[in-house]
Amino acid sequence: MCGIVCGVTTTVIGVVLVIASTVVTFFVVPGVIENLIINEVVLLDNTTQLERFIEVPVALNFTIRLFNITNTEEVLAGGVPVVSEVGPYIYKIYQTREIESLEEDTITYRIREQFEFDSTSSYPNTEDDIVTIVNVPYHAILQVAESSFPGLMGILNSALGDVFGSNNSPFLEVRLRELLFDGIPLCTNPGFIGAIACTQIREIGASSKNLAVQDNGTIIFSLLSYKEELSEAYKAYRGINNSEDLGVIISLNESAYFNYWVNDEKDDEEVLSVCNMINGTDSGIFNPFINRDKPLYAVNTDICRSVELRYQYDTEYEGIPALRFAANEWLLNNEDGCFCLNVTTGITKEDGCLLEGASELYSCVGEYLRTFQK
Ligand SMILES: *[C@@H]1O[C@H](CO)[C@@H](O)[C@H](O)[C@H]1NC(C)=O
Ligand SMILES: *[C@@H]1O[C@H](CO)[C@@H](O)[C@H](O)[C@H]1NC(C)=O
Ligand SMILES: *[C@@H]1O[C@H](CO)[C@@H](O)[C@H](O)[C@H]1NC(C)=O
Ligand SMILES: *[C@@H]1O[C@H](CO)[C@@H](O)[C@H](O)[C@H]1NC(C)=O
Ligand SMILES: *[C@@H]1O[C@H](CO)[C@@H](O)[C@H](O)[C@H]1NC(C)=O
Ligand SMILES: *[C@@H]1O[C@H](CO)[C@@H](O)[C@H](O)[C@H]1NC(C)=O
Ligand SMILES: *[C@@H]1O[C@H](CO)[C@@H](O)[C@H](O)[C@H]1NC(C)=O
Ligand SMILES: *[C@@H]1O[C@H](CO)[C@@H](O)[C@H](O)[C@H]1NC(C)=O
Repeated sequence: MCGIVCGVTTTVIGVVLVIASTVVTFFVVPGVIENLIINEVVLLDNTTQLERFIEVPVALNFTIRLFNITNTEEVLAGGVPVVSEVGPYIYKIYQTREIESLEEDTITYRIREQFEFDSTSSYPNTEDDIVTIVNVPYHAILQVAESSFPGLMGILNSALGDVFGSNNSPFLEVRLRELLFDGIPLCTNPGFIGAIACTQIREIGASSKNLAVQDNGTIIFSLLSYKEELSEAYKAYRGINNSEDLGVIISLNESAYFNYWVNDEKDDEEVLSVCNMINGTDSGIFNPFINRDKPLYAVNTDICRSVELRYQYDTEYEGIPALRFAANEWLLNNEDGCFCLNVTTGITKEDGCLLEGASELYSCVGEYLRTFQK
């Protein structure tokens, strides 16, 4: 009945169906999935992904290792320090973000992190371990006094005991918990001369993230307690307009770039250097459809710079396939000359830059030290 025409028709329909199914399989479905994924990750109002962004549902690991100096007597007599690595001391970080405002495609927020010692993962290391390290506040205060208040050096010399109390030594022998969070008190009970020095140190402390000035004048030094305070404001893309921009920081503390590092100069004008660029996200969120061949960028405010992360290998987290990106030797090679401030001495290469593996923190630890550039 049907004959050739029918045969052709079914063939045509067959071909059309094949094409349609090809289109559905190879084009429409990935598109649908892509859109589904985008809608599951970009920071839309009242969604679980926004909740996850506000309160990160898994605790993150923060691992600390220290170098314990084991021959302080010899070092004081001019010897070379012998150090042994201690740790790891593992803390769980609970990260939350406080949203300040949501605009069309941008979000403004501050980060708060809470640290909890993980005694199981850290075993046998405990927060009560005693470590001997270089006395950071002692050297920092002397270094600043030497470069910024030469007149203070004479006073400081006779007031060191008043300022540092029982920690009046180039080395600090301290309980880990005190060093990291509880803090080491300075200027607790200064005499008359100490009080003069402490007034200036308070000025330094007011802008340093590691020195906290108390109401009664005591100054508390700690390495990490500032991290439990609310961070500066981040402004980032929500990824709604373009999912590739998800989480990418537009400004930090209302500035689109850092001012810790050396800028370039072109025709007598200051030009933003790669070191001062704010690249990527706050590391708590990344865009979907990651390309293994392209680096990811994230800002690390502890070291006051952006960090390039490169693909390492495929892995999984609790059964979910994942890609591992990490920073490696390029992070601390000090090859970008703009990271070289020429202020820290003793561990530099011929060109004045720090040796590979060291990171300049001079401008990072306090506003006060940043003014050296001006
Ligand atoms: C989100 O929820 C809040 C209250 O919980 C509501 O006022 C607001 O209209 C919601 N926004 C959207 C886009 O649904
Ligand atoms: C944290 O470290 C512990 C112990 O090393 C490990 O079992 C756990 O999977 C880590 N958690 C994350 C989120 O990496
Ligand atoms: C650090 O070294 C000192 C002296 O060498 C020692 O008493 C102390 O136990 C060491 N600390 C750790 C955590 O190993
Ligand atoms: C100053 O205040 C801190 C707490 O803010 C307290 O621990 C310390 O003992 C006080 N020092 C003096 C000398 O009162
Ligand atoms: C959205 O993105 C497109 C290109 O991706 C751009 O041209 C446009 O200006 C963006 N709109 C907004 C409001 O950012
Ligand atoms: C943030 O910006 C303000 C004003 O420019 C400045 O005083 C403050 O020191 C900045 N905070 C940090 C941590 O750089
Ligand atoms: C920031 O990103 C640019 C490329 O966009 C790169 O050249 C530069 O090295 C990056 N800066 C840092 C500090 O990673
Ligand atoms: C640091 O020293 C090097 C070599 O002496 C010089 O080329 C560079 O410009 C200096 N950088 C700064 C910030 O002074």
